Amino acid sequence: MSTNGLRAIGFDGGYNYIKAVATHKQIMFRTAISQYKPSMMELFGSSSLAFEEPSFVFGDDVIDYQRGASIRTDRDWITADMYPCFFQAAMAELGIMNGEHLNVVSGLPIRYYKHDSQTLKEQLLGQHTFKRIRGNRFTFSVDRATVFAQAIGVLAGICIEHGTIIDMDIATSHVAIIDIGGRTTNFLHAYRLKDVPDESDSIDAGCAMWDIAKELQTRLLDRVPGLTLSILEASRIVEKKEYKIDGELIDIQQDLQDAQEFVVQNIINKAEDLWRNMKKLDYIFVAGGGGTQLFKKLNTHISRANLVPRAIYANAKGYSELAEYQNAREK
Ligand SMILES: Nc1ncnc2c1ncn2[C@@H]1O[C@H](COP(=O)(O)OP(=O)(O)OP(=O)(O)O)[C@@H](O)[C@H]1O
Ligand SMILES: [Mg+2]
Repeated sequence: MSTNGLRAIGFDGGYNYIKAVATHKQIMFRTAISQYKPSMMELFGSSSLAFEEPSFVFGDDVIDYQRGASIRTDRDWITADMYPCFFQAAMAELGIMNGEHLNVVSGLPIRYYKHDSQTLKEQLLGQHTFKRIRGNRFTFSVDRATVFAQAIGVLAGICIEHGTIIDMDIATSHVAIIDIGGRTTNFLHAYRLKDVPDESDSIDAGCAMWDIAKELQTRLLDRVPGLTLSILEASRIVEKKEYKIDGELIDIQQDLQDAQEFVVQNIINKAEDLWRNMKKLDYIFVAGGGGTQLFKKLNTHISRANLVPRAIYANAKGYSELAEYQNAREK
């Protein structure tokens, strides 16, 4: 337990997946939301991803259940009314207790975090109340919230454990992080745990998993006459790595490989453009859900890159370490 009475939480509200980490627990669900209807009761039961007040359901089941699921892909989505609901659902999944007080650390894409961090802080801070289906009304409070540039979390997760810096070498070196997400890829050059502004950027076109889906969609539409294939369906093919039409498996491997290679090449180009002389970088780490998917291909271009463990949780885990670090200093 923390010394200031606040529970340390890392929250990574990604465009594709919501991730949250507290000591000893991590959760993740798809960033999809829909109005709750009583007919969904059977599907959700008393799941922590189904709220009666406000009336919403979240996660993968939403997509499977109905087409009306909303998925936001714009920068302003942090101001939407539903944003705090995603956060509350994540806290419910983590098993936060009624009446608990939290210290939450989160992040935003490198390009926007300075401009948007106050907005996100305001969404997170203060009292949150919700009622789960078949559950009691539930209240918790966020007493402290801090927003970092995305990928600082990845770095913190490597260097900090239980509120203490455990890897002084990495903490004092030039470190590059490529955090490949659903919509955004963050390129961070950090020195002494701080971003080097001219050499850190986030790209929201051409470098993330969504772009592989778009590329695959174009290729399959070209290849199969009369096919209809939405970008969301294409995204699921990228995840599942298989595709069926009329119950028959379609061979998509070459198209998928080509679409991946196209995005990996964009990532390499951006990294070389941003960091010019990569020799000055002491370490290069790859993270994010896309990192896991693309690491093998990336590694053939940048052989000394390392994939961080549990790459999809890497930011959220690091944010929770930063929250613990803050708690340890506020005795
Ligand atoms: N279970 C899974 N199976 C296959 N691929 C997965 C799975 N979970 C995540 N992914 C891949 O990881 C990607 C999402 O990665 P991540 O969670 O890092 O993105 P995000 O943080 O939501 O997006 P952004 O950083 O752009 O906001 C998905 O688009 C998918 O390609
Ligand atoms: Mg992300």
